[in-house]
Amino acid sequence: MKTKMKKHYNDIEVCNLTHSYNTNGKLVEIFREINIGFKKDSITSIIGPNGVGKTTLLNIIAGFIMPDTGNVRIRGVSSKEACKQKNIGFVSHDHGLLPWMNVFDNVLLSLTLNRKSNNHNVDEDESKVLQTLDQLGLVDWRYYFPHQLSKGMCQRVSLARALVLDDVILILDEPMANLDELTREKLRYDLLEIFSSNPRTVILVTHNITESIQLSDFVIVLSNQPAEIVKSFEINVSGKNNLDNVMLPTSVEFNSIINNIRDLLHEKNS
Ligand SMILES: Nc1ncnc2c1ncn2[C@@H]1O[C@H](COP(=O)(O)OP(=O)(O)O)[C@@H](O)[C@H]1O
Ligand SMILES: [Mg+2]
Repeated sequence: MKTKMKKHYNDIEVCNLTHSYNTNGKLVEIFREINIGFKKDSITSIIGPNGVGKTTLLNIIAGFIMPDTGNVRIRGVSSKEACKQKNIGFVSHDHGLLPWMNVFDNVLLSLTLNRKSNNHNVDEDESKVLQTLDQLGLVDWRYYFPHQLSKGMCQRVSLARALVLDDVILILDEPMANLDELTREKLRYDLLEIFSSNPRTVILVTHNITESIQLSDFVIVLSNQPAEIVKSFEINVSGKNNLDNVMLPTSVEFNSIINNIRDLLHEKNS
């Protein structure tokens, strides 16, 4: 396995974000003064209870929602500009596949729509799609249509649509929600392998503590509404990057972080 060469500068800067929703004429403050730096080629998990504002935060980072105050810079430009430059890959728990296209074409379409230049080679594109499908264990299903696949498979295809893109920031909103535990573990393992050989800047929202620690370099814990950052953990568990051990989070260090995060979530959200 390749050793990750971590760069220490931030690919994404979130500064003083505040946001409220107007619900039935009442202003509800979702979060207050959120500041986060997401390091280049690192995986950062955001963990917090349902309804705390995680999806809203990702939507603001991706430029889909304008915050009340504060701003986001992605590789030095605004989120809107980063979108225009096709520098963002977004995966939500709703897989969003096109039902009339098979798996291969769904992934190829993502590559085609997000191409940054007109210079491309059809054979190279197709082999890139095949390689990505292979990494996610989907090659044998490439001619299947979404309705012929399980939810877990569709989720994998949705991830493939983002992972096929080179040099984009990946924003993953509970990409493993709705999956059974075994499928989830297998996918976690596949993702670790993919990110080990090709490091990316990833923001991952999850409410699974073990998953956040296994996959991430940093874990950010959010409090209940209005959400604030309770704590940010740097995950440096020995053996974490050893793919053979990753399925067995039995180390004392690992468990102590799990307990720490769990205590914080209970404390701040009870
Ligand atoms: N467009 C909207 N209008 C009003 N309220 C919203 C809107 N979107 C989300 N909310 C509310 O904001 C809160 C945070 O939602 P969300 O960001 O989806 O949380 P999470 O992803 O952490 O579950 C929830 O209480 C939700 O009901
Ligand atoms: Mg959500």
